[in-house]
Amino acid sequence: MNVLIVNGSPRRQGNVSRMLGAMKSEAESRGMQVSLLNITDLSVRPCTGCMACRKSLACVLPDDDAQQTLRLIQKCDVLIIGAPCYWGNMPGQLKVLFDRLVYGMMGESASGIPRPLHKGKRAILLSTGTTPFPFNILFNQTHGTIRALREILRWSGFKVAATLERGGTKRQPVDEKTLERCRKMIRRL
Ligand SMILES: Cc1cc2nc3c(=O)[nH]c(=O)nc-3n(C[C@H](O)[C@H](O)[C@H](O)COP(=O)(O)O)c2cc1C
Repeated sequence: MNVLIVNGSPRRQGNVSRMLGAMKSEAESRGMQVSLLNITDLSVRPCTGCMACRKSLACVLPDDDAQQTLRLIQKCDVLIIGAPCYWGNMPGQLKVLFDRLVYGMMGESASGIPRPLHKGKRAILLSTGTTPFPFNILFNQTHGTIRALREILRWSGFKVAATLERGGTKRQPVDEKTLERCRKMIRRL
């Protein structure tokens, strides 16, 4: 099984990074082939909104890490995305990446009907935020982040197999109990 992990947090020792690290180790120990991309290592120019990719199925911008990431998404069976909640949404760098990938995630028919390009693949989504539980969910904090990521994946054909939202990280950073929940999600794949 080919697993691609996209880390949307800029903090290498942060909550999301630790959760994804636990998942990566668990997946590797089970013989899965794992690639990990850190959003801060990627150089991605923002989408210019020209819409040319909808017809040409290629981006007019010079090749950068967006196209490279798309090639990895095309090869994966399972996509794992971890994102801290920023303003009830995903961090800007992650959104910039997915804006650039629209043509490789979701096609459309001549009449504009969406065509998911990744049918049959699964995804796992993680988010963390300082808003304590249950308000991280009730007030659309980590829940807003997950909802925004789900939107991208749903139209792209991915089945979201599991999500994990961890609130209250200011008072209680991610602990062993949360890391074990992350490993369990891998074991259930
Ligand atoms: C720019 C910015 C915006 C944030 N917005 C929110 C927010 O809307 N709601 C929330 O609960 N936490 C918010 N946070 C806090 C982060 O989500 C929280 O610290 C998270 O656990 C960081 O994850 P990390 O350690 O993996 O980077 C924000 C943090 C930053 C830097």
